[in-house]
Amino acid sequence: MHPLIEKALTNHHLEKNELVELLYNDNTNQELFAAADETRRQYVGDGVHLRGLIEFSNFCRNNCCYCGLRRDNKNIERYRIDEDTIFMLAEHAARNLGLKTVVLQSGEDMYFDREKLCSVIRRIKTLGVALTLSIGEKSLEDYQAYKKAGADRFLLRIETTDKQLYLDNDPGMSFENRVECIKNLGRAGLEIGTGVLVGLPGQTIDSYADDILFFKEVNADMIGIGPFIPHPDTPLKDAAGGTLDMALKVMALTRLLLPDINIPATTAMETLTPNGQAKALKAGANVIMPNITLTQYRRHYELYPGKSTTGYTPDESLKAVKDKISALGRFVAEGPGFHEKKNFLP
Ligand code: 5AD
Ligand code: SF4
Repeated sequence: MHPLIEKALTNHHLEKNELVELLYNDNTNQELFAAADETRRQYVGDGVHLRGLIEFSNFCRNNCCYCGLRRDNKNIERYRIDEDTIFMLAEHAARNLGLKTVVLQSGEDMYFDREKLCSVIRRIKTLGVALTLSIGEKSLEDYQAYKKAGADRFLLRIETTDKQLYLDNDPGMSFENRVECIKNLGRAGLEIGTGVLVGLPGQTIDSYADDILFFKEVNADMIGIGPFIPHPDTPLKDAAGGTLDMALKVMALTRLLLPDINIPATTAMETLTPNGQAKALKAGANVIMPNITLTQYRRHYELYPGKSTTGYTPDESLKAVKDKISALGRFVAEGPGFHEKKNFLP
């Protein structure tokens, strides 16, 4: 075994230059994936946690250069799902599909203010599920109010820790504010989910190593990593996009350095390569987020083209995910799947 992979497997720590070395080296990918798989098994077991994803609004005030929901994209039909329908989808997920976590995701849609969100959070919490929000940058007071209403977790990717690259790709946004928002999630008592894109034009191996160290620094509970997939209605339409292998490598190293956290096999991985999620589940991932949005809305929630869940119903998406899990000899985990901190060195 490569000495650095062995070191990561026993110490769960690597220096930046060591991360860089493994990220450059393509001869040890299989060993790296196997080591991450072993760490995943030891720390979080064979159960795969399912999180039912509801994409409840595709309005967004931001203009991220990589994203199909960016405000300057006039080629999409914008929609909002009303509170009763959001609740109905969550209820179906909890009562009929047996899901233990519901994730509410949207663009940064100012229509859903604190009061409206807290009201829907309170209603969904009566179903006895864990609730995750993925709705962008808000104030600390907002995050505290969501927590008080019953929200458990929040996903806000840093997207990249390369500040210049962040500013280039997220026009009008502040890198410092994004970091502050991520830290505020923890201050508000929410589980912190963050993560990055892999394969933006100009994104470097050096910055992926920084990304992984950043995940440790903010004490992340969940990390989502997805290959960048160019969208035709964005300024990055002609970019090359990310590769599954690099996304899996960043993910596998994240598992080795943060052994007990939750890591999803992302939809972007599956979209880029059929079987991408299965590969991720064998390289450190322990979570899948089946899409439970109504079919009629899915094609409008096009962060990137060809999203693997477009066109299916909630029940079909769940079945596809369950089949994938059993084909690997794994099983759907019981319980809400909070981050249980385990002791490890150092
Ligand atoms: N390719 C892959 N992922 C994307 N996201 C946005 N646009 C793209 C794209 N073109 C990701 C961002 C965001 C998450 C909700 O979707 O990382 O945080
Ligand atoms: Fe909006 Fe998020 Fe897309 Fe950026 S990545 S444009 S914040 S939906």
